[in-house]
Amino acid sequence: MRDTRHPISRKRAALVALAAAAAVASLVTPTPAAADSGVVGGRTANAPDTPWVVALSSVDRFGRMRAGQFCGGAVIAPTKVATAAHCLREDVLGVRAEELRDLKVIAGRSDLVGGGGHEIPVKDMWINPAYDAESNSGDAAVLTLARPLPSGYVIPVAPAGDPAYRPGTDATVYGWGDTTGLGTYAHTLNAADVSVLPDQDCSRAYPAAPGQARYVPATMLCAGTREGGRDACQGDSGGPLIARGKLIGLVSWGSGCGLAESPGVYTRASAVLPGS
Ligand code: ARG
Repeated sequence: MRDTRHPISRKRAALVALAAAAAVASLVTPTPAAADSGVVGGRTANAPDTPWVVALSSVDRFGRMRAGQFCGGAVIAPTKVATAAHCLREDVLGVRAEELRDLKVIAGRSDLVGGGGHEIPVKDMWINPAYDAESNSGDAAVLTLARPLPSGYVIPVAPAGDPAYRPGTDATVYGWGDTTGLGTYAHTLNAADVSVLPDQDCSRAYPAAPGQARYVPATMLCAGTREGGRDACQGDSGGPLIARGKLIGLVSWGSGCGLAESPGVYTRASAVLPGS
């Protein structure tokens, strides 16, 4: 969503966010920037309907304009937020994650520029020890909040074998990321409707190649639309992919955003997160 109300602040916010996204984007090659199209092809989402979507924030690192948002997350227990491991990498944050003094989770707020909701400091973090920065496999982390969120914020994790993982299942991805692929960072929450795609779609799009992310079906999930147009994008990482009322994936990577032959790749929730 483009914001036409604050043209100057938008530009500054985009610059800050771009710096963050550039670091994140560098995880994945190739990224045809011009063909990229936050959530792309999405619609506005509303915090009261989707309380389990949270923003990860550090005003110190990413500035005040969009409340320091740099990644998304999903509330999987009152004090636990699942996100992507790559969101906490030093090349994304500019410092080691443990040194980030003001890491917070913002919950219950759809418009980052407005107040409201909960801003809760992170008191502990678990980064999946099996996360492999080269293939991008196992891209998950769990943050422990300093205070609990209300239990109504929690989304259950779909266990392995749940029908929600079946190809063809309708799913929705949420985030405050780039809505065009050109650094148009949203300040309101967006949602895009996609489908779970067969593993082969992503294996074909992202075959093994030296030094590049590749599709690993055991720990990843492929989702998008066959014709492209609706997808997650830079800044959405760590955010939830929801199907049948359960968490099935975390935004992880892709080539460009919303391209027909390059689906979104998600961390497979059942492979890395404790069931609930
Ligand atoms: N790595 C990106 C991030 O950190 C997420 C990219 C998702 N891309 C996609 N086409 N689904 O925000």
